[in-house]
Amino acid sequence: MKKHDMKFLAGHRARRLRQSDWIRELVRETRLGAHDLIYPLFLREGNGVREPIDGMPGIHRLSIDMAVEEARRAHDLGIPLLALFQQTPEEKLTPDGAEALNGDNLTCRALRAIRMAVPGIGLMADVALDVFTDHGHDGVLQDGKVLNDETVDILVQQALHLATAGCDVVAPSDMMDGRVGAIRRALEGHGHTQVMIMSYAAKYASCLYGPFREAVGSLGRLKGDKRTYQMDPANAREALRQVQQDISEGADMVMVKPGMAYLDVIRQVRDRFDVPLTAYQVSGEYAMLRLGADQGLWDIESAMLESLTGLKRAGCDGILTYFALEAARVLA
Ligand code: PBG
Repeated sequence: MKKHDMKFLAGHRARRLRQSDWIRELVRETRLGAHDLIYPLFLREGNGVREPIDGMPGIHRLSIDMAVEEARRAHDLGIPLLALFQQTPEEKLTPDGAEALNGDNLTCRALRAIRMAVPGIGLMADVALDVFTDHGHDGVLQDGKVLNDETVDILVQQALHLATAGCDVVAPSDMMDGRVGAIRRALEGHGHTQVMIMSYAAKYASCLYGPFREAVGSLGRLKGDKRTYQMDPANAREALRQVQQDISEGADMVMVKPGMAYLDVIRQVRDRFDVPLTAYQVSGEYAMLRLGADQGLWDIESAMLESLTGLKRAGCDGILTYFALEAARVLA
């Protein structure tokens, strides 16, 4: 008997379950659908504007009317939730990010416009000051340091403005200590009892946020880095403590961010906690896959689906991804 025959004596042939589409379909362990996807939109002032973002081919800054159209497309494809981010006009940037507390700022106006035109879609917005400050940090500074509690006081007000404007999910992305509890208490105290909190619980100080910062305009403004508040990429146990903390403070859902370099963190959070878990496939991940495809190194559709499937397989429920619309079309 030849050696390679021996291996199959017990009838083990893994390829039996891979031989055709139908059987692969039947035994597939991870399913991806439009219902898994959260679609981020970049907002800018103006009318009728769809402005390409250099670092993110295929993604645009949208004026509110264009964002409404994009929201309608997303809703028609079965995407449950949008995440809104704004590019604040230069003249409105201040050291304390005061524009965040303007109930008529771009994000609040977009929330109302989309809510009116596309009532069935969920709306989420970031709670953080980086797009409103002239220094690009997520909080207020004193002697170059990001102040925690003073920042939390402002974030609470920001969250209340978002809730008043019709935001369904507020997403603190600032990484200040204690912000989830403070926001939860304020929402309860002001009658916003149904507003959900998705906390950016394990948010790492990643280099992969570059294209996002370019998109919202904070890239050139940011001095230094965010390592005194965002997490050290070397730490996974700390992520579990952060998630535990945010859940105990009142987060309804938690997030791990970025995605692809943190699959182990996603898996550990999934195994340890029962709350819904979102992974954020961030701007730099989108850019890598897109630019590689543009160079002819791989097919974009395959890269998109493989990367999203990997995040789901790691254990997340939802995925925030700039591919959301494209993926939903392919998966339809
Ligand atoms: C703001 C915020 C950032 C991202 C989401 N919210 C940037 C940052 O923390 O510097 C990054 C998202 C992405 O890169 O796609 N706090």
